[in-house]
Amino acid sequence: MDKRTHACGALRRDDIGSRVSLAGWVNNYRDHGGVIFIDLRDRTGLIQVVFHPDHPEIHALADRLRHEDVIAAAGECVPREAGLENPRLATGRVEVRADALEVLNKAATPPLTPEDAETAGEERRLRHRPLDLRRPAMQSMLATRHRTTKVVRDYFDELGFWEIETPFLCRSTPEGARDFLVPARLHPGRFYALPQSPQLFKQILMASGAEKYLQIVRCFRDEDPRADRQAEFTQLDMEMSFADTEDVIEATEGCMRRLWREILGVEVPAIPRMGYREAMERFGSDRPDLRYGMELVDVADIAAETDFKVFRNALGAGGAVKAIRVPGGAAMPRSQTDGLAEWVQQFGAGGLPVTKVDGGAFSTGIAKFLEPVREKMLARIGAEDGDLVCFGCDADPAVVTRVLGELRVRLAHERELVPKDSWQWVWIVDFPLVEWNAEQGRWDSLHHPFSAPHPDDEDELESDPGAVRSLAYDLVLNGSELGGGSIRIHRPQLQQRVLGLLGIGEQEAREQFGFLLDALAHGAPPHGGIALGLDRIVMHLLGTSNIRDVIAFPKTQTGADLMTGAPAEVTPGQLAELGLRLQETKPS
Ligand code: AMO
Repeated sequence: MDKRTHACGALRRDDIGSRVSLAGWVNNYRDHGGVIFIDLRDRTGLIQVVFHPDHPEIHALADRLRHEDVIAAAGECVPREAGLENPRLATGRVEVRADALEVLNKAATPPLTPEDAETAGEERRLRHRPLDLRRPAMQSMLATRHRTTKVVRDYFDELGFWEIETPFLCRSTPEGARDFLVPARLHPGRFYALPQSPQLFKQILMASGAEKYLQIVRCFRDEDPRADRQAEFTQLDMEMSFADTEDVIEATEGCMRRLWREILGVEVPAIPRMGYREAMERFGSDRPDLRYGMELVDVADIAAETDFKVFRNALGAGGAVKAIRVPGGAAMPRSQTDGLAEWVQQFGAGGLPVTKVDGGAFSTGIAKFLEPVREKMLARIGAEDGDLVCFGCDADPAVVTRVLGELRVRLAHERELVPKDSWQWVWIVDFPLVEWNAEQGRWDSLHHPFSAPHPDDEDELESDPGAVRSLAYDLVLNGSELGGGSIRIHRPQLQQRVLGLLGIGEQEAREQFGFLLDALAHGAPPHGGIALGLDRIVMHLLGTSNIRDVIAFPKTQTGADLMTGAPAEVTPGQLAELGLRLQETKPS
């Protein structure tokens, strides 16, 4: 067999008359009156290969070809007969008249063909991933992911960034999630932690004089996977010395602009900024989806004039009353709005007062309580006939924000109010440095303990921690958090103060972060950076809402790899070597 000369998907009319040699998988086979047609597939696409009976030896071989056999074939590229062209295939105007065929590997009957994988359940697809990945959509995902990382690397290289690897076997860092632990055989009873992010290493690299660092790096967080979250995911992680917020934002925006242009042909405009408080007040979320309205409207003053006890009780206890309007939501039956009232309980709501608008008046639900304030309320909410109006009211204003923020997103998607092909980017800035954790009775970092407090607020670190802003920023696209970062603390005294605020005393700080504090003490430059979720970027570029569709070998919702069977039991010998013994009853 001649050496492979062409990719299957590359053949065009220009190739007519050439001798070509191809290799790939049998996608399909048909026998039309003794002539055998094979759709041959490689990662570039499909080409029709034809076997005529006038080459009896190879015709007999071709007759035995079945789905997913791997073959090499050679012959002349010829035009398809008039009327038999396939406009749906890029190669559909030509075919290869084969005069040579070699079966490179006969395939067992596949449990999943690329064609049935389109409709197969995800579990089957993940179990038979090698077959699933042969699908054109998955091949195109692999290609887009490759192009994404290539564009990112080239872009940051042009800006003078160095790609530097940081360890996977680390000491645990407090980034909010649970660590994956790795027992250390040479240190019985001790454990490495897989990195939740390279945060401290990249800061140490700045202290080491690297100035501009980039890494496309796997991170590990032992948290429950979700539609946009995996326990093992990839960050586009960067850090810059002598940089302020503007420098990091400019470098990041430039990267996004280049990616969207090169991969989608879409121009990303200058990305607007919104303060954290404004985002929470208007959208009930620090990752607001700006593709649609349905903003939260404060109606506390009007609600106070009604006799509705639920409103009055909430307000009397120092709480809040806000509303959102759902265009066209009046069409929702009672059973559905009752369902919503149940659903919001998980966000702390006691219930969900609703009403509909009809003929310029409130018509159902709590309508009778609103009658005395009808005009004012309708005007404030901007409600129109056909709308559903949902009220959030609680003694805790944070509950109102959370409930309506979640409801807004759910209803916009359910009611199909989200415009297609819209890219709404926003930077969220001016985050609070810390938030009060009532359960544990302590302050927690909103980002992580290494973000710098806003210099104007530093004096209030001890006296009014809740009012201190941080120099942190998040990049949000269409309601999804693409990335987050901050300008860091670069002086050990200030780092110590912030750790103290978080309840980490001097001794504990030395034990956990002595290496960081020392690095800061020995001449660390001012620095800052960001990490973007690479998987999430690729999800947006490909228009999928399932993170498992953009990862070659993802884990399921329960963190299992269905192909390899990980996580799996290990032998008693392996455990003994590590000095570990399993408890009698396995945790469920
Ligand atoms: P953060 O924890 O915000 O910041 O993570 C940065 C970005 O990583 C992505 N991401 C995830 N993607 C998929 N699955 C997950 N489980 C997951 N968790 C996070 C998100 C997120 O915005 N060290 C800091 C960054 C810094 O300060 O520079 C950090 O890791 O897109």
